[in-house]
Amino acid sequence: MKLYTTITSLQNALKEEHSKGLKIGFVPTMGALHQGHLSLVETAGSMCDIVVVSIFVNPTQFNDKNDLANYPRTLESDMNLLATTRCEYFFSPAVEEVYPVPDTRKFDFGNLETVMEGAFRPGHFNGVAQVVSRLFEIVLPDMAFFGRKDFQQMAIIKDMVRQLNLPIEIVPCDIIREKDGLAMSSRNKLLLPEYRNCAPLIYQNLRDAKYLVNLKTVQEIKDYVVNQINATQLLRVEYFEIVDDTTLMSVESWSETGTKVGCIAVYAGKIRLIDNIILDIN
Ligand code: PAJ
Repeated sequence: MKLYTTITSLQNALKEEHSKGLKIGFVPTMGALHQGHLSLVETAGSMCDIVVVSIFVNPTQFNDKNDLANYPRTLESDMNLLATTRCEYFFSPAVEEVYPVPDTRKFDFGNLETVMEGAFRPGHFNGVAQVVSRLFEIVLPDMAFFGRKDFQQMAIIKDMVRQLNLPIEIVPCDIIREKDGLAMSSRNKLLLPEYRNCAPLIYQNLRDAKYLVNLKTVQEIKDYVVNQINATQLLRVEYFEIVDDTTLMSVESWSETGTKVGCIAVYAGKIRLIDNIILDIN
């Protein structure tokens, strides 16, 4: 595995791979790698000839300065972890390399960016689209791998690829969890022990919601999950929505067609955690 910090050096190296007609898989990340990220790299390795991983903590997608400042940065151990995988090209650029001039592009994702994460983190998805489109332009992958953990992000990226007509296949990858069910996240490292202990309640309630489909109404399940989690005192639900998995529009009734997903954001102290679960398929 080789580390690249400049666009030119990475592009020169990848040019050769492209000219051989090799299939290039790309896994963009912000680092502080865990098994969730590594599962994306593994899937990329099984579907592509070459795997490129980027680590870049993208300032334009943070709407909270403290969140950006506190985001865990563990480059050395990340590199050690990646060295054990099929990653051949590791790209870790400085902010000025990715944004030599400020990126002022404004994307329009309609409803996809106004609900859930979009409602509570204004500008977040515009920043994600800016950086991912920029990284796609640099790496020119055939396939790019994203986790279902960031369910709404995946919907946004798919829509961006459609809007920009990029010849890139977006491959969704399953959520990897800790043994107690907590979805793996770089932010889990920031949880104080008492919050870490009760964080698995989030997934337990998502599973309860799945079990209760068709036994209770959509609204009853939403109320149930929010009340159960908030009852712990240490956790605060920011939203729990049940949405259609493609339009992200709120589901009113179980009889509606399409796959339904329960998406949640919870504050565990100052740390914000997100998770989701597929509820049913009609
Ligand atoms: P980051 O949070 O580092 O996540 C990188 C990728 O790993 C995303 O596709 C995310 O969905 C996936 N991922 C994270 N936790 C996972 C888990 N427990 N199971 C499966 N996949 C998981 O998402 C970002 O970075 C950024 O927004 C990025 C796309 C890199 C743009 O800056």
